[in-house]
Amino acid sequence: MNLGKFTTIICLLSFVVINIVMLSFAIADESQSRVGYGRGGRMSGSFKSPRSDEPIQPIPISFDYNRAKVELGKKLFFEPRLSKSGWITCNSCHNLSTGGADNLPSSIGHKWFLGPINSPTVLNSKLNLAQFWDGRAKDLKEQAGGPIANPLEMGSNHELAVSVLQSIPEYVQWFSEIYGLEEMYGGEGINIDQVTDAIAAFEETLITPNARFDLWLKDYDNAISELEKEGYDLFKEKGCIACHNGVGVGGNSYQKFGMAKPYDKDPHTLGRYNVTKKEKDKYVFKVPLLRNIELTAPYFHDASTWDLSEAVNIMAEYQLGLTLTDSEVSKIVAFLRTLTGDQPSIIFPILPPSTATTPEPNRN
Ligand code: HEC
Ligand code: HEC
Repeated sequence: MNLGKFTTIICLLSFVVINIVMLSFAIADESQSRVGYGRGGRMSGSFKSPRSDEPIQPIPISFDYNRAKVELGKKLFFEPRLSKSGWITCNSCHNLSTGGADNLPSSIGHKWFLGPINSPTVLNSKLNLAQFWDGRAKDLKEQAGGPIANPLEMGSNHELAVSVLQSIPEYVQWFSEIYGLEEMYGGEGINIDQVTDAIAAFEETLITPNARFDLWLKDYDNAISELEKEGYDLFKEKGCIACHNGVGVGGNSYQKFGMAKPYDKDPHTLGRYNVTKKEKDKYVFKVPLLRNIELTAPYFHDASTWDLSEAVNIMAEYQLGLTLTDSEVSKIVAFLRTLTGDQPSIIFPILPPSTATTPEPNRN
């Protein structure tokens, strides 16, 4: 045997051996992932649980995002100078310390204006089929332009917001790194499209995986208690699941509020009708996500209750025409509390200083 052949055979042999060893590691890893429940990357494997046919699916963990863009989007989310007063940020009404909402019946905006509707959470908002209670923005990018220019919210306008960013060299640098130097210096500089794109990229990372219920879905039997499991069974049997299902436990359809009985507490907010102008869309709203629901009181678009038990009773009465017993309600509430997941851990961003050309805050 010449040396060439010998080396080829040795190479082939070691390739086979390495493969066998790798395979056995892979098998060991798989069996290990059934033991206990860690947090983080390990949960993202392709392990198929017998519970994968349940009408609710776990939030997938995704690490696949553009880090620089997300960092910029985070700065903008916390950037008070995007508001006319230089004081209000996205985080003012979507506080990431409190479940991505403001826990107020309706938000306080520019000049202490009270908004007309309860602010939904930004957590997991990418799971929504569209944004806003009436779905008037098709995605997060389209949504993000709204509040900056809304006179009741941040009170600014897109030109002003962009001119603030353009006056700060660090922002010009960051935008040009992400959206292209040529466009930035040769063209018109920062534009609102890039601002909303970066904010949306940040919002897409605001997911809350690893809720106890998700661990149960991934086959960790003890992740939820017997009572919470009974609550889930009731949630399915009574019919809540018809509207609140999928990864977000909602967010994937528009439904009438008042299916079984007209909702009489707020006859003024017309919901989806405002978008479509179709009679059948009166009082139709996007079904809210029930993820982290225990953190985001008060409930409903009109904030008609602060009490999750009462919210469940209202749903049973107006959506299903049912009266639940107290024990049924408390079980369903116990189940709903298992939907709270890992909250995004945010390192508070440090923002660059204004310059002589930065438009000054205006509280009028
Ligand atoms: C003054 C309070 C306020 C500010 C500031 C504010 N929002 Fe909102 N946000 C709301 C309210 C209220 C709604 C619901 C409005 C509606 O549905 O008609 C909402 C809706 C949303 C939604 C849709 C969520 C869903 O489930 O439909 C997203 C996403 C969002 N805001 C992100 C942002 C971003 C990004 C910013 C900053 C650029 C921002 N908000 C600034 C109050 C505010
Ligand atoms: C026919 C569809 C439908 C059914 C069935 C249904 N819901 Fe809802 N649910 C909705 C809609 C639509 C809303 C938003 C109503 C609004 O505020 O305009 C909502 C809102 C909620 C909220 C408040 C969410 C928030 O963020 O304010 C909770 C909690 C809730 N539902 C739980 C339940 C429970 C528990 C059941 C079963 C007893 C149930 N739902 C049955 C459609 C439904």
